Amino acid sequence: MQKERKLLIAGNWKMNKTVAEGLDLVNGLRRELSGVKEVDIVVCPPFTALSEVSKAILDSNIRLGAQNMSEQTGGAYTGEIAAAMLKEFSVRFVILGHSERRQYQKESDALIAAKALATHAASLKPIICVGETLAERESGVMEKIIGGQLKGSTAGLSKTQMEETVIAYEPVWAIGTGKTASTQQAQDVHAFIRRTLAHLFDDAVAKRVRIQYGGSVKPANARELMSQPDVDGALVGGAALEVRSFTDIIKNSI
Ligand code: PGA
Repeated sequence: MQKERKLLIAGNWKMNKTVAEGLDLVNGLRRELSGVKEVDIVVCPPFTALSEVSKAILDSNIRLGAQNMSEQTGGAYTGEIAAAMLKEFSVRFVILGHSERRQYQKESDALIAAKALATHAASLKPIICVGETLAERESGVMEKIIGGQLKGSTAGLSKTQMEETVIAYEPVWAIGTGKTASTQQAQDVHAFIRRTLAHLFDDAVAKRVRIQYGGSVKPANARELMSQPDVDGALVGGAALEVRSFTDIIKNSI
């Protein structure tokens, strides 16, 4: 499949996998995916597995991501992790503002923007998540919500930083529910996100930003989703926890 932007498929392990389980998973992925050049492949283990997973994927085509990061560079912030600590393990990407963190940790757009600036200051690439709830979609405020999240959580980024930022569109109602947005629903929102980025930054920036889809992505729906012109990859939760399903999502997307 010839794409305008190189596909970026990332596995968000969430709060799953001990070190031993994580190593089993990445060793399997390394074996299965060694020949894949068409897709940028990323795994995002919990912090506790970053060190070992980082060693296990050395010299492979799999890159490392983290699931969160502090907006601070260090100091008295109990329980937080700074960019420099992630860089020790060759982390390249950081998921920011996942809907679970927006919901359970009450992360605001302003905090996510501060974190995004901190990732760029450390030459890490943020994956900023946006998405509407079912109630927001059904009451017709979806574009207002997603537009607001985009504006708020990219505030202060330069054009160059925005080009190096990934957006993940994750409709909250599709995460872990088995409900996937239809390919048309996904394409429509991705196109809206790109138009909004053109408005907030400019056309050239909007054309370069990779926009991932997330929410119940599986081997069976990956090909159709990835074939949409504005869908540039996937952020995968549940199906990223098994070698077979994550491998098949990637192979079916090529
Ligand atoms: P899911 O999660 O694939 O399990 O729906 C996606 C995500 O939350 O990133």
